[in-house]
Amino acid sequence: DWNAGNVIAEQIEAIRAQVGNARVISALSGGVDSAVSTALVHEAIGDQLTAVFVDHGLLRKGEREQVERDYVASTGVRLITVDAADIFLGHLAGVTDPEEKRKIIGREFIRAFEKVQLDLVAEAKAEGEPIKFLVQGTLYPDVVESGGGAGTANIKSHHNVGGLPEDLDFELIEPLRALFKDEVRAIGRELGLPEAIVGRQPFPGPGLGIRIVGEVTRERLDILREADAIARAELTAAGLDDSIWQCPVVLLADVRSVGVQGDGRTYGHPIVLRPVSSEDAMTADWTRVPYDVLARISNRITNQVPDVNRVVLDVTSKPPGTIEWE
Ligand code: XMP
Repeated sequence: DWNAGNVIAEQIEAIRAQVGNARVISALSGGVDSAVSTALVHEAIGDQLTAVFVDHGLLRKGEREQVERDYVASTGVRLITVDAADIFLGHLAGVTDPEEKRKIIGREFIRAFEKVQLDLVAEAKAEGEPIKFLVQGTLYPDVVESGGGAGTANIKSHHNVGGLPEDLDFELIEPLRALFKDEVRAIGRELGLPEAIVGRQPFPGPGLGIRIVGEVTRERLDILREADAIARAELTAAGLDDSIWQCPVVLLADVRSVGVQGDGRTYGHPIVLRPVSSEDAMTADWTRVPYDVLARISNRITNQVPDVNRVVLDVTSKPPGTIEWE
C-alpha cells in the first residue's frame, strides 16, 4: 500500500546517495511541487541546500510572508529571497500583450535566479564544495508529457541567457518524479508543511501579471491583490476550496463603467471572478458558486477596493474560454 512515510524515507536515502557532500539549490515558487520537493531535499541534506525565492512583485497578498515565515518555520530551510519587483515592473511598463508579458516575466525570473546562482557558486567554490545539483518539482504527469527524458539541465542553453560561465551545469534532483499531485500533497502534510501551501490551488508562474488585462502597474497590482484576497477568503470561509480547482480574479484595467456609491458618481474598473472546476486544467467548467457567497464577495470588493465599482462572473467553460484571461 502507498504510504507517505515510506516514500519520504526512500527518497531521503536516494537523495543522500545522489548528492554526497555537494551543495544543492532549489527555486521556490510558492507552489505545492517546489515546496514539497525542496522540503524533502532539506530533510535529506539540511544546510547543503539553499532555496531561492524570487519576489517579482506579481505575487498574491501574503504569499511572500507564507514562504519566508511559515515555510521556513516549518522546514528550517536556508532561504534567499530576491527582491526583484522594481526590475520586473520596469520591464513590464507599457506592455499589454499577454504573450509578451509571459516572455518578459519568464526571462527576468531566470535572470534573477541565475544571479543568485552565480553568487552561490562563487561562495561554494571558496568553501571547496561545488554546487552540482538543482531541485526540480517534476511530477509523474510532467514526465509522461515530456516523453520521459531529463537527467541534466544546462541552464544556459536551456534558457538561452548569454554571459554565463561554461560550467554552470546542474544535475537534477527530482524526488517527485513518480508521484501524482494528491500524493505530493500527502507527503507535504507528512513533512509538516503549512496547509496554506500544501492545499494551494494552481497559480500561474507569471502571477498577477497575466490577471491584469492591460498594462501592469504597481497601483493596479495593489487593487487586484486586495480583490483577490477578498475572493479567496470568502470562498475558503464558505468551504468551497475542495470543489473549486482555482479561481482567477481578473482586473479589467482598460475598461471603466459608471456606478454610484454614497452620493457620488463613480467611473471605475470591473473585477472578474473566474471560479472553475476541473480535473487537470485541460478542460474546465465554471463552478456554480452559491449566490450568497457571490453576493458577499461582490459587496466586499466594491466596498473595500478602491477604483472597483463592479464585479462580474465568468460563466464560460474551457473550451472555448481558457481558465486565465491572458
Ligand atoms: P489556461 O489559461 O491555459 O490555464 O486554461 C491552464 C492552467 O495553467 C495555468 N497557467 C499557467 N501556469 N505559467 C504557468 O505556470 C503560465 O504562463 C500559465 N498560464 C496558465 C493556469 O493557471 C491553469 O491552471
